[in-house]
Amino acid sequence: SSSRNFIPSIIIGVVGHVDHGKTTLVQALTGIWTARYSEELKRSMTIYLGYAQTSIFHCSNAEPPDSYVTSASSCGENAEPRYLKTVSFVDAPGHEILMSTMLSGASLMDAAIVVVAANEPCPQPQTREHVKALEILEIDQVVVVQNKVDVVSRENVMTNYRQIREFLESTRYSKAPIIPVSALHKANINAVAMAIAKLFKEPERILGKPAIMQIARSFDVNLPGTRPEKLVGGVVGGGLVRGEISVGDEVEIKPGARIETKGKVKYEPLVTEVVSIRYGDMESDVAKPGGLVAIGTKLDPSLTKNNRLVGQVLGHDVPDPVNDISIEYRMLDKVVGARELETPPQLKNRDKIILIVGTAPTIAVIQKISSDVMEVKTENPIVVFDKSKAAILAQVKGRWRLVGWGSVK
Ligand code: GTP
Ligand code: GDP
Ligand code: MG
Ligand code: MG
Repeated sequence: SSSRNFIPSIIIGVVGHVDHGKTTLVQALTGIWTARYSEELKRSMTIYLGYAQTSIFHCSNAEPPDSYVTSASSCGENAEPRYLKTVSFVDAPGHEILMSTMLSGASLMDAAIVVVAANEPCPQPQTREHVKALEILEIDQVVVVQNKVDVVSRENVMTNYRQIREFLESTRYSKAPIIPVSALHKANINAVAMAIAKLFKEPERILGKPAIMQIARSFDVNLPGTRPEKLVGGVVGGGLVRGEISVGDEVEIKPGARIETKGKVKYEPLVTEVVSIRYGDMESDVAKPGGLVAIGTKLDPSLTKNNRLVGQVLGHDVPDPVNDISIEYRMLDKVVGARELETPPQLKNRDKIILIVGTAPTIAVIQKISSDVMEVKTENPIVVFDKSKAAILAQVKGRWRLVGWGSVK
């Protein structure tokens, strides 16, 4: 097991209602606290997509679930840790106003953990709305984690468990396991590691060139005060949809740099060279579909700082971005993101909606709409590839809610 490269094979979304313990669960599994921005730390709330990764090992000297651990040394002495797999996590924000961020992360997910706090009635609005998003994006591999069992009585854990079961019955996840844990006290985390190891399968990947990568975060990794000769180029993080990218490759990023002259905005595609590839702390020569990867480039870091390139697409041969798109769409039966269930609004010409295509959220204005097709003009240009799915948000009682979805034609 020593010759492993620990490159993640699957991206697992961590979703659910605000403050139910997603970030705490990711920390219990990976040792990484995904909130990094001062604004996130100040408000103790996830605002951007978080990311972390871990490997899972099996210990020969313990019984399941305790035999599934996230570091080889936890097996103790005289044990033979067997490497099973490495996984990436996308930690989504749970706050209702950050639904478009959750959806942009959802486009990267191969599987998902729905975190439900045991000390609140289930389902809470964003529990429902996030699960609806998983259904829309056809994310079939789902495990539910019932968190915070340390703060409720045994009896109330059972009552809450039954509520979760009943809720799941109304979704496509009626068979999903429910794992009780305390993320804060790291209790029963081995059972989550075991579920990840045994239940989440790597989807079939499309390798070879040309590669397409969806950007979920972008960084200037230079510390303030770094001497000019030590500055490194811009870094973009995200997931490959297909293909492979190697160090030394020339890649393009579209739509690219936003240029504003005399009030007119245009985008110029960026072309650069890949100088480094990193999975977590691991340097790699090549990036493939399967995990969250950080690509180091020769770009001026001011182009990538503060998540500026989120929603853009990097690759060998990226399709040109468009502003006019046609979507074959369906509305939800019910809007589930508010406390009360609502009927979806009747969308009409000139309505403003938010579309999330891949990792890209954008405002769009409806130009023409029938019962199943809408033509829209997007505010930001977006890259459409393969049969891109679009999630649709619209205003319902003054809040942006998930109201429908479609495929971009
Ligand atoms: P958002 O990303 O803002 O939606 O929140 P989150 O789901 O990531 O929740 P987070 O991990 O930030 O936890 C919210 C609060 O719940 C924090 O104060 C945690 O310490 C607490 N918490 C998380 N897990 C547990 C748990 O298992 N037991 C108890 N008692 N508290 C927990
Ligand atoms: P923060 O998230 O803004 O605090 O920035 P970090 O310093 O944690 O880096 C952000 C991401 O960029 C992480 O995924 C790092 O692994 C990655 N990263 C940092 N430096 C480099 C680099 O030189 N090359 C590559 N490829 N990735 C890097
Ligand atoms: Mg969080
Ligand atoms: Mg929180």
